[in-house]
Amino acid sequence: MTDLVEKLYRERTLSKSELIELINCRDADTERLRTLAEKVRIENYGHDVYVRGLIEFSNYCKQDCRYCGIRKSNLNCERYRLSYNDIMECCDEGYKLGFRTFVLQSGEDAYFTDDRLCEIITAIKSRYPDCALTLSIGEKSFDSYKRYYDCGADRYLLRHETANKEHYQKLHPEAQSFENRMRCLNDLKRIGYQVGCGFMVGSPYQTDECLAEDLLFMKDFNPQMIGIGPFISHKDTEFDDYPDGSAELTIKLLSIIRLMLPKVLLPATTALATIDAKGREKGILAGANVVMPNLSPVLVRKKYQIYDNKICTGDESAQCALCLKQRIESIGCRIVTDRGDSKNK
Ligand code: SAM
Ligand code: FES
Repeated sequence: MTDLVEKLYRERTLSKSELIELINCRDADTERLRTLAEKVRIENYGHDVYVRGLIEFSNYCKQDCRYCGIRKSNLNCERYRLSYNDIMECCDEGYKLGFRTFVLQSGEDAYFTDDRLCEIITAIKSRYPDCALTLSIGEKSFDSYKRYYDCGADRYLLRHETANKEHYQKLHPEAQSFENRMRCLNDLKRIGYQVGCGFMVGSPYQTDECLAEDLLFMKDFNPQMIGIGPFISHKDTEFDDYPDGSAELTIKLLSIIRLMLPKVLLPATTALATIDAKGREKGILAGANVVMPNLSPVLVRKKYQIYDNKICTGDESAQCALCLKQRIESIGCRIVTDRGDSKNK
């Protein structure tokens, strides 16, 4: 594996079969991979870790992703949506805590029409012109994406979920197509958003070949951000007894991604911290440079349960921010009050 790690570091890519070999290999050279990824993170972003305040503003969803706890057909999910005022209050709180990026995330909720969304985007951007606004609200038309962008949305997160079409179809019902997911990602890029894609590690039916295809897709798509986290089963989905993804493999993939796309923004996700108590710290030490604590009101947090046992659902935003700051500092990094734009132009 040593040769492959050095080659990846030098050439910033590998062939599909080499990536499969690297993913499979579990020898001591994982540490070499991690050290190189950390070095590359420091070369590009120093010891700065960017924070994004995540506002989960609705768990209504018209989609039915087979792995997701808030999918339409989960009748056990207690639904909620935040009001305009609730959302603005989350931003006010976040701003006071030093957040300069807000991420509005939700299921695909028809109540939030483009007009309503544009009103919220405009209000946040005019109250906080020094902040970046990220949307993560699923698949929309080109025109809708363009309207949000014209109102001031800067970034958009839409995980591609898997770059393999057959795999995509196994994870989603027939009405949700791989082609439309890709169309969305391309539209977002064309409009000018800073785009984030990504996938779950260990999702049902995923093979090492799928993972290699994900890595090559992302290298080619060249997004500004990549979100990966372990798949975690949810009791009310058909994948309830499917094993969770591994923290170890997620961390290894973070390092591989850092070497393939040195300037990309790479979060150490809540899902990683859910399956490993030190997941965030390990993720950052392996090349990640972003954390996304929750800013949603505590009263609704438990209801945005996309997977079981999600952490930080009982803590106030201020507590989460403090806990994260201490964790990040414990590994020699620091959280910065900054929009934290990607250097991957
Ligand atoms: N509706 C938006 C979308 O489709 O992009 C945003 C919300 S969706 C819940 C955000 C991400 O959660 C998905 O892209 C998926 O990768 C992740 N997710 C869903 N179910 C999960 C699970 N069981 N384990 C880990 N991650 C999951
Ligand atoms: Fe819509 Fe998960 S199925 S957010």
